[in-house]
Amino acid sequence: MIVIRNLYKSFDGFEVLKGINLTIETGEAVSIMGRSGTGKSVLVKHIVRLLRPTKGEVYVDGIRVDNADEKTLMKVRRKFGYVFQMGALFDFYTIEQNLYLPLYERGVKLTKRELRKRAASVLEKVGLDERVLELYPDELSGGMRKRASIARAIITEPEYIIYDEPTTGLDPITADLINDLIADLNEDLHTTTIVITHDLRCAFKTTRRIVLLYEGKIVFEGTPEEALKSDVPEVRKFIGTFGIRELRLDSMNANNN
Ligand SMILES: Nc1ncnc2c1ncn2[C@@H]1O[C@H](COP(=O)(O)OP(=O)(O)OP(=O)(O)O)[C@@H](O)[C@H]1O
Ligand SMILES: [Mg+2]
Repeated sequence: MIVIRNLYKSFDGFEVLKGINLTIETGEAVSIMGRSGTGKSVLVKHIVRLLRPTKGEVYVDGIRVDNADEKTLMKVRRKFGYVFQMGALFDFYTIEQNLYLPLYERGVKLTKRELRKRAASVLEKVGLDERVLELYPDELSGGMRKRASIARAIITEPEYIIYDEPTTGLDPITADLINDLIADLNEDLHTTTIVITHDLRCAFKTTRRIVLLYEGKIVFEGTPEEALKSDVPEVRKFIGTFGIRELRLDSMNANNN
């Protein structure tokens, strides 16, 4: 479980987060939404302490992260897989080398054969052929690169997985395949899932709880159905830019699944 309590974050006096309170239950899938520059990435970076709060507290499974010592922090970070917004893969490493990086980082000692087995297993989960192992990131399509970075995030069998803008830059069909993959992984691996996105469709398809950030504060928290019915002006504005009928159908489909 992740607990964020009264979190404030400023950069050189510029206040980005203004008192965030958020609890994410174990096994849950939550999306953090909001316009570009509202502080979605900044908020989530606090969970693994890529950033430290100006004020407030962050807990992961009861461990206080914001002022933890390095050893405790490593213990917490090991629980996470992170699919980064930009440059998720290292261009000068093959996909195979990219996949093993988080294992090396965590000091996981496996034989070559065991490594290969793990790689094959995560590639299968994300729907990539083993042939990609010897390719370099720029030899893959955008959708394949996303899959490869998801494979790298799950290879350590994390308890939590964070996706920062998983569908940005993908065509709508490929984006939807990635949405399905995220939802399936949450279900199959029972991994607590946090999806940062400004794509409403992505949020609706991958998660059952939506958190909307606006000007550094949470202005809405609820299910996709509640979001559609909400009269919070920021929610209306956000949803107004999408085809509502299509979203209704989608959320109904999600319920039937
Ligand atoms: N390390 C940093 N130093 C100074 N300012 C920062 C830093 N990181 C983020 N910011 C600022 O914080 C604000 C929020 O940034 P953030 O990356 O969280 O936005 P976002 O909601 O993730 O946007 P996007 O949807 O475009 O990714 C921006 O104004 C950004 O310039
Ligand atoms: Mg961001």
